[in-house]
Amino acid sequence: MKALNVCVIGTGYVGLPTGVGLAELGHHVVCVDKDENKIHALQNGQITLYEEGLEELLKKNFSAGQIQFSTSMESVSNSDVVIVAVGTPPHPVTHEADMQYIHAAVRELATYLKNYTVVAIKSTVPVGTGTVVEKIIKEQNPTADFDVVSLPEFLREGFAVYDFFHPDRVIVGTNSERAQSVIQTLYDAFETKPNMLFVKRESSETIKYASNAFLAIKIHYINEMANFCEKTGANVLEVAKGMGLDTRIGPRFLNPGPGFGGSCFPKDTMAMAFMGRQNDVSMTLIEDVIKENWARKKQMANRVLNVVKDIPDPKIAVLGLAFKNGTDDCRESPAMEILDEILKANVTVTVYDPKAMENAKKLIGDKVVYASDMYSAVQNADVVAILTEWDDFKSLDLQKIAYSMNHKNIVDCRNLLDPQKAKENGFNYLGIGR
Ligand SMILES: NC(=O)c1ccc[n+]([C@@H]2O[C@H](COP(=O)([O-])OP(=O)(O)OC[C@H]3O[C@@H](n4cnc5c(N)ncnc54)[C@H](O)[C@@H]3O)[C@@H](O)[C@H]2O)c1
Repeated sequence: MKALNVCVIGTGYVGLPTGVGLAELGHHVVCVDKDENKIHALQNGQITLYEEGLEELLKKNFSAGQIQFSTSMESVSNSDVVIVAVGTPPHPVTHEADMQYIHAAVRELATYLKNYTVVAIKSTVPVGTGTVVEKIIKEQNPTADFDVVSLPEFLREGFAVYDFFHPDRVIVGTNSERAQSVIQTLYDAFETKPNMLFVKRESSETIKYASNAFLAIKIHYINEMANFCEKTGANVLEVAKGMGLDTRIGPRFLNPGPGFGGSCFPKDTMAMAFMGRQNDVSMTLIEDVIKENWARKKQMANRVLNVVKDIPDPKIAVLGLAFKNGTDDCRESPAMEILDEILKANVTVTVYDPKAMENAKKLIGDKVVYASDMYSAVQNADVVAILTEWDDFKSLDLQKIAYSMNHKNIVDCRNLLDPQKAKENGFNYLGIGR
C-alpha cells in the first residue's frame, strides 16, 4: 500500500475519526483546526469528543507519529489529499447550509497548494459547491495544480470508528481520472475493500442530502404509525418488525421515538428543502416532515407534563440528553428540545446522561439539577422521562426506583423498558405506540 500525506481540515465529529482512521491505515495525517483549545488538547494526547474506541486509536497513532495536530494549514503544501470537514450549520434565517466555514477554509488552504493535490470536500454541502470551491482556489492561487472531489461522509455518530473501517459505500464525485486514482489509493489499505461508487460531483453532493432526507422521512413515517397504533390498540414495535421483514423496506430506521434530531438530519432536511425552493422543485414531503418533526418534540414534552399536571410543584427526572446513544453530542438533540419545552412550565427538572452532561451544561447551564447517576436523578421524582436510548437505562431497577420516587410515572420516549414489568411494579407507564 502506498502511504499518502493527508491533511484533514476541521477536527470535529467527522474530521477527527477520519484523521485517526486514515492514520491507523498507515497514511501520514495532519489534522488542522482553527480552535486552539481543541488542537492544544489533541497535541497533549487528550481526546476532544466521545466516540467508542477513538481515544485508544488516537493515542496509539499519535505516539507512533502517524498523526499530528496543528492550527496552521502549512501542511497542505506537501499533502496528496486535503480533506475538508468543517461545519455547514443551518443558516439562522434561510436554513440553507451556511457555507462561511467552507469558504474561509478553502480560501486559506488554496494559498498553500504546491504540487498536484486532491481537495476532497467531506462536509455536507449544497449541489454546485465543488464548482464554487474550484473558483475560489483559482482566484487565490492561479497556478495551483488540483482537483476538487466530493467525498461525502455517511458515518453515524456513536459508531464513527466502526463506520470508518466498515463503510456501506464510499461515494466519490469527480470526472478526473487523476483524482480518482488518488482517492482509490487512500482506500487501498482497507482490509475489506469498501464498495466505491464514482459519480459526477453534483450527483455525489446530492446523494448525501437525498440519503439523509430519506432516512428522516423513514423515521417520521414510523412515528406517525406509532401515533396511529396508540389510537387503535396495535403495537408499533410489532408493526415495525412486520414491515421490516419485507426486504424492500428493511428493518432499520423503523424505531419510533421522540422525533429525529442531531447535527445532521434537521439541518440536512432544511437544506434540501431550501435547494428545492431555490430550483423551483416541489419538495412538500420533506417540508411536511420538517414541520411535523418539530411538532413532535412539543407533543412529547406535553406527554410528560400531562402526567404531572395535578401534582403541585412536580419534580421531573430526565434520563438522556445526547441526541442518540453512544455520543456526547447534544446539537439539535430531541432530548434537549423536549427539555426546553418542559422547562417552560416552570417545573423542577433533574437530568442525567452517561456522556453528554458537559455539553448539556454549555447549552442549559443552571436551569436544571445535574445528577451523578440515573438513580439519584429519579429520587423523589414524580415522573421519569427517558429521552435517549442509552443501554444503561434498559437496566433501570424498577423495584428500586418505585421506592425512591414520589409518584410512579414513566414516560419512555425510546421504548426501552418492559411495559409489563413497569405495570407489575405499580408504574403508570407510557411508551411510544404500544
Ligand atoms: N456529525 C456527523 O455525524 C456528520 C456525519 C456526516 C456528515 N457530517 C458533515 O460533516 C461536516 C462536519 O461536521 P462535524 O459534526 O464534524 O462538525 P463539528 O462542528 O464537530 O466540527 C467542525 C470543525 O471544523 C472547525 N473549523 C471550522 N472552520 C475552520 C477553518 N476555517 N479551519 C479549520 N478548522 C475549522 C471547527 O473549529 C470544528 O472543530 C458537516 O458538514 C456535517 O454536516 C457530519
